[in-house]
This record gives sequence, C-alpha cells and structure tokens, in this order.
Amino acid sequence: MLSAERAFINYSNPYKRYGENIQLKTDHTLRVKALCADLAEKTGANQQDTKLAGICGLLHDIGRFEQWKRYNTYDDAKSADHGDLGAEILAEDNLIGQFSESDHPLILNAVRYHNKYEVPAGLCERDRYFANLTRDADKIDILFLYASRRLTKSSGGSVLSDPVYHALLDHKGIRKQDVRTKADRVALYLALVFGLNFRRSFEIIRQNDYINKAIDIQLDEAANEAFREQLETARTHLNRYLAEKS
Ligand SMILES: [Fe+2]
Repeated sequence: MLSAERAFINYSNPYKRYGENIQLKTDHTLRVKALCADLAEKTGANQQDTKLAGICGLLHDIGRFEQWKRYNTYDDAKSADHGDLGAEILAEDNLIGQFSESDHPLILNAVRYHNKYEVPAGLCERDRYFANLTRDADKIDILFLYASRRLTKSSGGSVLSDPVYHALLDHKGIRKQDVRTKADRVALYLALVFGLNFRRSFEIIRQNDYINKAIDIQLDEAANEAFREQLETARTHLNRYLAEKS
C-alpha cells in the first residue's frame, strides 16, 4: 500500500500544469500535515492517532486542486466551498478508499469542516478533536504565511469598520461577510487566533511571534494614522489573549 504522502503527491502532481499556485497549496499542505501531527502528539494522542492527524492535514485542502482547475481561483465565494469539494472528491475518486474504513467519517469531517466558521454541534467528540486539530494547524500556517510576507493584504488606506474593530477587542472571530473595508480583511487574519482550540497552538503563535510580525508588516505599509492606532490597540489585546491562552 502507498504511503499517504505518496498517494497525495500522485494525486496532486498532474495539477502542476496549472501553474505555481498549485505548488503553493502543496507546500501549505505538507506544513499543515506536520503541524497536525505535532498538535496531536502534544495533546496526548497515541502514535496511531498522531498518524491519523497527519492524514487529516494531508487531505484537508485536497479540494483546492480541482477548485483551481475548474474555476481558476481559490476564492470560495466565487467558486465552491473547498472543504465540501474536498470531501466530495475523496469519496467520488475513492481516494479515501486507501484508509481504514472506520476512519472515513472522521477524515471526511476534518476535511469538510476545516474551513467553516465553526464545527457543527452534532459531531462526536473524536471527530471534533481531529477536525479541531486540522483547523488549528491550517490557521497556524495561514498566520505563518501572513507574518512572513508570503501572503499580503493591504489596508489600502482604509480603517477597520466599527463591528470588526470591536470584534478584535472583544476576542471574537470575524466572518467573511462582516468584512466592509480592506483593513477589515487584514483583521480577518489576525482574528484567526480567536478560533484556536489547543494550548499548543497558542504557544506556536507566540513562540514565532506571528501576530506582532503581521501587525508590524501592516504598520510598515499603513499610511492612515487612525488605522495605525487601531492596530496598536489590537496588538495589546491580541498579545494579552495569547498570554492567557498559552
Ligand atoms: Fe483550506
């Protein structure tokens, strides 16, 4: 039987002809896989479950390849929900078939719900744990990309809208539909920390200083004095939140 990583590479390789955006997702996937395994291990999972967490990470963005091929965008709002698409592809192409059948619902739930605002209430405890591992790992890597300038969002001279600014100060997640200004799109990324579930996740964010780096990048660019002030206040709140959680 193929290793999960080999099977993933075999699946994703033919999509390379669609350009370098495919490679970005492959690289992201491999980092998320490693993060999932790290989070599982640090939260007390046994060897088998740590491996299973890695598989969830490896498959979480499997929908991205078809999404790019079919729609030429990674914007779910303009194409398809890539979590749902990924779960469909795993089942339809029988990619899921190489994994133990008893793990299929768990893997499909981790893929389907990795990108949703929240995990649905009805999920069993074990499925919720693996979905949350996958969600945290994905968010950590997005913040890494953001803090290392590999993913850039410009505020375009705008400021945070009141609801988004207050969500940041109240430690609340931000929904895409709440975004009003370009600055709000910056906040959307910073607010990812409010959706994290595990102490280890907060530690990784803190140890790598992702939030301060991401804010510094915006301060370098932000011409608008009011936005700079909002960011400095948000920085204090975000750092306090991270300190409490880690
Ligand atoms: Fe994703």
